[in-house]
Amino acid sequence: MKSLSPIILALDTDDISVAQSWIELTRESIDIYKVGLEFFLKHGATGLQRLRESSNFELFLDLKLHDIPNTVSGAVASISHLSPRFLTVHAAGGAKMVQAAVDKRPEIAITAVTVLTSLDQEQLLAMGVALTPIDYAIALAKNSVAAGARAIVCSPLEVEAIRQAVGPGIELITPGVRPLDAEVGDQSRVMTPQDALSAGANYLVIGRPITSYYQKSSEAMRERAIEIRESLR
Ligand code: C5P
Repeated sequence: MKSLSPIILALDTDDISVAQSWIELTRESIDIYKVGLEFFLKHGATGLQRLRESSNFELFLDLKLHDIPNTVSGAVASISHLSPRFLTVHAAGGAKMVQAAVDKRPEIAITAVTVLTSLDQEQLLAMGVALTPIDYAIALAKNSVAAGARAIVCSPLEVEAIRQAVGPGIELITPGVRPLDAEVGDQSRVMTPQDALSAGANYLVIGRPITSYYQKSSEAMRERAIEIRESLR
């Protein structure tokens, strides 16, 4: 089987036709596309199915589920016809919640989101968490993997430590990567895509470093995706 591109393109738009164009323009260098709350809450499963009818791609469904196990189990059942390759849940929901998601659809890689990179040590303390963000992320990752999670979302700066903690069989997915020539934007702790892969990441979630080229031209976006893909070979 052909190995998948390590790039996961974030379809951060609420416009179905824009999302369709982004997929068409990048499909030769990208296999997995991330659909998150912005798109899903507006267009729902029906909108997502429309996207998939126009182009065949692997789905990273980023719904960050976080509720009691019974409710999460029901949510997983409700989206299972979309056959996502990855489905995110919050690791902070606990082992029983993660396990409920896994048990409902074992064929989906339940993907645990550890500590949001928007949370710093001060905010964690205020929430009653005395661990450093990285130690908390490691604890959440281990707990989720023990409950059956097959993938972890973490900051690129935590990839090395989490890889050590969870071993080689778990897929590590990291946002917050920026090619050297890209604008950092609102991301504060970033790493280059090459460095994140060297640190042990399997997949990189990339949005604006590729999608912002769409404003220049379709061809510019297509070439940008190819350029980043080629730099990772
Ligand atoms: O445009 P950019 O490359 O920053 O997009 C990164 C994607 O990864 C966005 O969809 C964003 O919501 C997501 N993400 C992130 N940082 C996290 C978790 C998810 O940037 N800690």
